[in-house]
Amino acid sequence: MSRPSVLVTRLIPDEGLDPVREACEVDLWTDELPPPRDELLRRAAGKDGLLTLLTDPVDDELLDAAGPQLKVVSNFAVGFDNIDVAACTRRGIPAGNTPGVLTETTADLAFTLLMTAARRIPESVDYVRDGRWKTWGPMLLMGVDVHGATLGIVGFGRIGREMARRGRGFGMRVVYHDVHPATPDEEADLGARRVEMDKLLRESDFVSLHVNLTDETHHLIDDAALRAMKPTAVLVNTSRGPVVDPAALERALADGEIFAAGLDVTEPEPLPADHPLVALPNCVVVPHIASASRVTRGKMAAMAAANLLAGLRGERLPTPINPEVYE
Ligand code: DGY
Repeated sequence: MSRPSVLVTRLIPDEGLDPVREACEVDLWTDELPPPRDELLRRAAGKDGLLTLLTDPVDDELLDAAGPQLKVVSNFAVGFDNIDVAACTRRGIPAGNTPGVLTETTADLAFTLLMTAARRIPESVDYVRDGRWKTWGPMLLMGVDVHGATLGIVGFGRIGREMARRGRGFGMRVVYHDVHPATPDEEADLGARRVEMDKLLRESDFVSLHVNLTDETHHLIDDAALRAMKPTAVLVNTSRGPVVDPAALERALADGEIFAAGLDVTEPEPLPADHPLVALPNCVVVPHIASASRVTRGKMAAMAAANLLAGLRGERLPTPINPEVYE
């Protein structure tokens, strides 16, 4: 019997690549950059499975290019805004993602950005590197306190909840906003209280974003939202770049309308080195690394492989994003 043929659109950890190689003929894109669109369309043609990344738009055009034999799309990420889920479902193709395994690692990075921006760490490091450190200064590089501050979490799913735990560990008061409220028991366990979005923006010293990117959350943090925040507030985004309007954020940071921002994700992504947000001393930008620990990326790879292989065997994916495909 011939082995299934799959496209893997980037080099992923062995925990995922090994089982896929064992079971399939693998067309592996090994460049550091994602395959250009025409290359992606060309290589997808005739494949039984696609293991994609958040940098690969999976839409009608790609699914058509792959052809009717395509059995499964497995995304190496928990977020799946790169996938046209309805287009997959219409063709009866299950699509999978990697939830759960990156929750803590992502919350760790969100909290790192929170503290880094609050205590002006990049500016402080530059200060030393540039030879400007001449003495101890009572007014030098003063930041904002984390302990005792209010942490506002927007999007109270897995990662938002882990962020709440970290905030509680640092003695913060935690409020959250989500269209789906947690149960009273969950709120008690996490020490978090649901508030309306405008109250969260007005009262929080730190606003951390953990929503999916949808039409509703696109530019959720716009001029009006930033104006509602405290001038001492810090914004943290580890969700998706377009949840924040970058022009509005640039203005708010430059005008001192908020104190600082910590961004793991940006619009556009990647953010060019000459982008105004990169030059702002009160904006800490890192290159979408929230889940980038060795162990977590290994688990994501294993999970993406498990989804891919299940789909190729015609079994239900362990973590489908379109379970309706099975109805
Ligand atoms: C995801 O999984 O969606 C992250 O953005 C990358 O780990």
